[in-house]
Amino acid sequence: MKLFALLSLALGLLVAQTGAANLVCYYDSASYIREGQAQFSTADLEIALQFCTHVIYGYVGIKPETFQLMSLNENLDIQRRHFATVTALKEKYPHIKFLLSVGGDRDAGGHEKYINLLEGGRQKQTTFIDSARDFLRSYNFDGIDLAFQLPRNKPRKVHSDAGAVWKSFKKFFTGDFIVDEKANEHKEELTDLIKDLKNTLRADNLLLSLTVLPNVNSSWYFDAPAIADSLDLINLAAFDFLTPERNPEEADYSAPLYELYDQNRLPHYNVNFQVENWLLQRVPAGKINVGIPTFGRAWKMTKDSGNTGLPVVPATEGAAPAGPITKTPGLLNWLEVCQRLPNPSNINAKGADAPLRRISDPTKRYGTYAFHTADEDGANGVWVSYEDPDTAASKAGYVKAKNLGGVALFDITLDDFRGQCTGDKFPMLRAVKYRLL
Ligand SMILES: *[C@@H]1O[C@H](CO)[C@@H](O)[C@H](O)[C@H]1NC(C)=O
Repeated sequence: MKLFALLSLALGLLVAQTGAANLVCYYDSASYIREGQAQFSTADLEIALQFCTHVIYGYVGIKPETFQLMSLNENLDIQRRHFATVTALKEKYPHIKFLLSVGGDRDAGGHEKYINLLEGGRQKQTTFIDSARDFLRSYNFDGIDLAFQLPRNKPRKVHSDAGAVWKSFKKFFTGDFIVDEKANEHKEELTDLIKDLKNTLRADNLLLSLTVLPNVNSSWYFDAPAIADSLDLINLAAFDFLTPERNPEEADYSAPLYELYDQNRLPHYNVNFQVENWLLQRVPAGKINVGIPTFGRAWKMTKDSGNTGLPVVPATEGAAPAGPITKTPGLLNWLEVCQRLPNPSNINAKGADAPLRRISDPTKRYGTYAFHTADEDGANGVWVSYEDPDTAASKAGYVKAKNLGGVALFDITLDDFRGQCTGDKFPMLRAVKYRLL
């Protein structure tokens, strides 16, 4: 009897441990003040919370001279008490950890400030660390997430003619492809900073998480074995490998799970490579969360892009026009894609509202895309690589199969939170959660 009780206790612990996959919900607080259908309220946030294990509040920045943490929207965060309102939800959802993210793409000024912080030496870093701790305490956060803007990989064209090959060959030797000559030093400085920060936070039982932003090359900036112990979560924003902004002239899968071997694609532009990069350095799998976007990337197809839609799509012309909700050129969230897929209301539509042809991926390795070839006059061509609840679930399946920590969803405010596509609110978040169970 005793043995049985002990056994079931052990089993219970095991289930609790293996069943506790992370679902890290990125929450862009700027969504609170968006207009119209994009406005995301605290009530919407609460609906999402039933699925999340962590909420990452984005974003705060750092002050250019002193490197202290600063709100990027004091009116919302502080005067209107949005920090406090969000962290007050801890009382209702005590199992969720609320972290505050510094950086992202929101902090104006690009990577320079962050490089200055790394190069700034002990004293400046101590100012940063102390201000971070004070900030977390004042607003009742459970930890901080470092989403530092660091220099990004330079985009490279997959299809290049002979002249361009020669040019890039020359560039390679003239050092143009090296985006940061001091990357090695910066890596060491970042390691020290992360360790010092964690030491300070540990005393207050606060968490430290790392977000690796898209196209920030982990090999250059993160000494994985040296920093792993100091990090509670490692969130790999493994998407936006190709975007209309970075790669205006050709369109391709923007967040494939696995490498595509044909057409001279870069081997590191896929989720699996990014995950393996950390695993191969013996970082505990349970700390790694795979980033899944709730949006797609949309290019403008031209008459020269052909009509097969097969990626790599040539002769694109940068970003496709903005969608009606997110109003951002080149970006369509899942709802905006969903509304452009064939449905009773658009089946006979022409022009800019014509339905997109959807090409799904039965191998579940590369992702889905949808497109509409350019009209006779060259208008209305669009090609979009996107995540939908099925592909997001496939990625969650990958996470489970590899025993990783879980999924980081970027972000919940771009999910279909009103349930306008199929009636289910937060279909991406749900799909991921159910696959992780
Ligand atoms: C970093 O970039 C180099 C090429 O410059 C590449 O070989 C390497 O795989 C990249 N690392 C990661 C983790 O993407």
